Amino acid sequence: MKSYHKYLLNNIGSDRETLTELLTTKDTELRNAIFGEAELVRNLNVGNYFYFRGLIEFSNKCVRDCLYCGIRANCKSVYRYEMTEEEVLNAVDFAWKHNLGSVVIQSGERNDKEFILKIARILNLIRKRTNDEIKVTLSCGEQTEETFRYWLESGASRYLLRIETTNSNLFRKIHPCDGKHLFSTRLQALENLKKTGYQTGTGVMIGLPGQSIEMLASDLAFFKNFNVDMVGMGPYLEHNESPMTSSSEQKYNPSERLELSLRMIALLRLLMKNINIAASTALQSIDPEARVEALKCGANVIMPNITPLKYRYYYQLYENKPGMNIDGAENIAYWNTQMQKAGGFPAFKLSGDPKHFLLRKQRTQIALQD
Ligand code: 5AD
Repeated sequence: MKSYHKYLLNNIGSDRETLTELLTTKDTELRNAIFGEAELVRNLNVGNYFYFRGLIEFSNKCVRDCLYCGIRANCKSVYRYEMTEEEVLNAVDFAWKHNLGSVVIQSGERNDKEFILKIARILNLIRKRTNDEIKVTLSCGEQTEETFRYWLESGASRYLLRIETTNSNLFRKIHPCDGKHLFSTRLQALENLKKTGYQTGTGVMIGLPGQSIEMLASDLAFFKNFNVDMVGMGPYLEHNESPMTSSSEQKYNPSERLELSLRMIALLRLLMKNINIAASTALQSIDPEARVEALKCGANVIMPNITPLKYRYYYQLYENKPGMNIDGAENIAYWNTQMQKAGGFPAFKLSGDPKHFLLRKQRTQIALQD
């Protein structure tokens, strides 16, 4: 690696011009240096072991109408389901038995009392059943600060809420103009998550119609300035029943979206050395090997799908969702091999708190003592 490339990459700040240049450079030596350095930085700071989060797609019922999404409320052709408490607990048992240290409960968004109480009940049951050994991440959309706190007290410790894009104009374009999909509310919800004490994760879609490279550079700067603990981001993928698919503004072909996604991951690793970064499932829809590539250039989290097979088909945020017929055990065995291919090994049994969060918490405690 050229020494000035190494110097540049080790002194990377949130300067948008530099980030834009690095996201687009055609210089293959520099491109390979970005990936190589990101891997090194990951290994030095969080190690070359990869954390598992068993993904449970709890329900596809959703009150939102995001224009890109295949389970948006207005998509009338989708059969709507919700897992029973027992089914969720069985999935958690499965994760536990297979030595996964953590699960993610992901769902379409609902804000009604019944939903809020059911999630809380499930969290309490998981805590009791696993003696708190399985850490739970929630990904259940925008909620009030009160609900976030209630769920945290019921046993959740992490929350994923993607900002989708940090450009408020683009955010407006990819959501309906109904006063219910507001950038400011999303941002406030993220602030609330951090304030409440969650390990806070966010992310964006990459290659959206109308999204410029400068906007992606700003997304990276946002992650850094917001001081997030975890990031999950991946390529935007069409869904044939969502309004955005017919948009004439699409500029990026799938391989461009893939390359941009990998560069976003690598650059984020260089910017934020000790956070957790997921190799998102969407990557795999473009290329079966793309998640391994992501693990090779800075990512350190994999979320194998452990949702009962009978529901998988109905939870399609985008087309060609991979792994629709691969059951949990097969998936875990597959990742065991893939992780070695990516130059690391699976962190079985570890819940995998982001080092970034632990340090952030320590600093807050010290500040409070002073
Ligand atoms: N393509 C890629 N990602 C999508 N998501 C939703 N729809 C799509 C799509 N069509 C992502 C959003 C959301 C997460 C759960 O899935 O970023 O926050």
